[in-house]
Amino acid sequence: MRSVLITGGAGFIGSNFVHYWLAKYPEDRVVCLDALTYAGNLASLAGIAESANYRFVHGDICDTPLIEQLLREERIDHIVHFAAESHVDRSITGPDAFIQTNITGTHSLLKAAKGYWLGGEEGAPKEFLFHHVSTDEVYGTLGPNDPPFTETTPYAPNSPYAASKASSDHLVRAYHHTYGLPTTISNCSNNYGPYQFPEKLIPLMFIHILEGKNLPIYGDGKNIRDWLYVEDHCRGIDLVMEKGRRGECYNIGGINEWTNIDIVTLLCREVDKRLAANPELAARFPNTPINQGRNAESLITYVKDRAGHDWRYAIDPTRSNEELGYKPVESFETGIQRTLDWYFDNEAWWRQVMDGSYRDWIDANYGDSRGLLGL
Ligand code: NAD
Ligand code: DAU
Repeated sequence: MRSVLITGGAGFIGSNFVHYWLAKYPEDRVVCLDALTYAGNLASLAGIAESANYRFVHGDICDTPLIEQLLREERIDHIVHFAAESHVDRSITGPDAFIQTNITGTHSLLKAAKGYWLGGEEGAPKEFLFHHVSTDEVYGTLGPNDPPFTETTPYAPNSPYAASKASSDHLVRAYHHTYGLPTTISNCSNNYGPYQFPEKLIPLMFIHILEGKNLPIYGDGKNIRDWLYVEDHCRGIDLVMEKGRRGECYNIGGINEWTNIDIVTLLCREVDKRLAANPELAARFPNTPINQGRNAESLITYVKDRAGHDWRYAIDPTRSNEELGYKPVESFETGIQRTLDWYFDNEAWWRQVMDGSYRDWIDANYGDSRGLLGL
């Protein structure tokens, strides 16, 4: 039985990972630590009861004494580190939180893990692992004919977000190299699926279609991203933790490159198709274009480009494929259908995220959230 600390477990990928881990390893103890910033949502963990094998802790990864206390109290032997500020646009308008959480916060965790695991303390676990969840954005941008990113592609982060993640990757590497801390890093491409905060491309476009709002396409819409269903990312992390060489990095991706405009067009057509086939469903969304005699593509609006917008990301997953046997299970066609099913079935989840009622609930249950949000 492992005792696993999952940071950022109330966020998009972290919450999917908590569900994945508890289902696959019910004998493990899972401690989920999250600061519940605007991106964290306890509703994403609904249905998981506090029990002998699950505990939620509301706290900040920058709070080193809290981390040290948790490691000891729970005899943590695995840390899976998702907690981060994750949205590129926010990092352009307000980089400070990214430096604080992504760099200082990661260092706080590494420092606490090193102290507890390598400090020779009686009762501390003998086998342990620090897994750091990172991104393909650390490698920078690709041109149309460049080969996809491998684990040896030089780091060239372009946004404050990517630079802060690159920094945290370097700290993890340094703690392995200098102190011998057992670490692994996964660098993954763009994820999509349930529980994704609707500031990211796919859920934002989906909700705007239903509400009849413009679909803002940055620049010419020709930028390319490499998309992976979130559960396939969780499977990849699990494999890296189980079989990955300590001190190594593994790229995770599904060889699934799409331009932004093609993704948005696909979403428009899929949503229109579902609503046309199901009048009861369509009636739930009076402002959606199909109810006004138009198609969803009529909402597409080209807007000013993102500053420093990376043109293309693409992952070469050869190492994780050959060394770990990693292969995504979900195709893009099935992954998008599952995602649409989930968002149609979980309107209450995204409504409370959009209308701020969730923040009110956090304030009522956890005290004033504004400090956490830096407001
Ligand atoms: P997210 O923004 O949805 O969730 C981040 C979570 O971290 C939230 O629950 C938030 O409350 C929590 N958090 C933020 N600051 C914290 C702090 N100081 N202390 C404790 N908790 C804090 O992010 P996501 O999209 O789920 O990404 C998770 C991780 O995966 C990130 O490290 C990100 O860099 C990486 N990643 C994301 C993608 C993607 O496509 N979304 C792809 C590759 C890698
Ligand atoms: O590649 C992995 C990264 O993917 C993760 O590390 C990040 O945490 C995650 O946010 C994501 O970053 P992106 O910037 O690629 O994702 P985002 O959903 O913000 O944007 C995807 C693409 O769509 C990007 O080229 C910008 C564009 N876009 C995005 C939004 C929100 C638009 O054209 N319009 C929009 O409204």
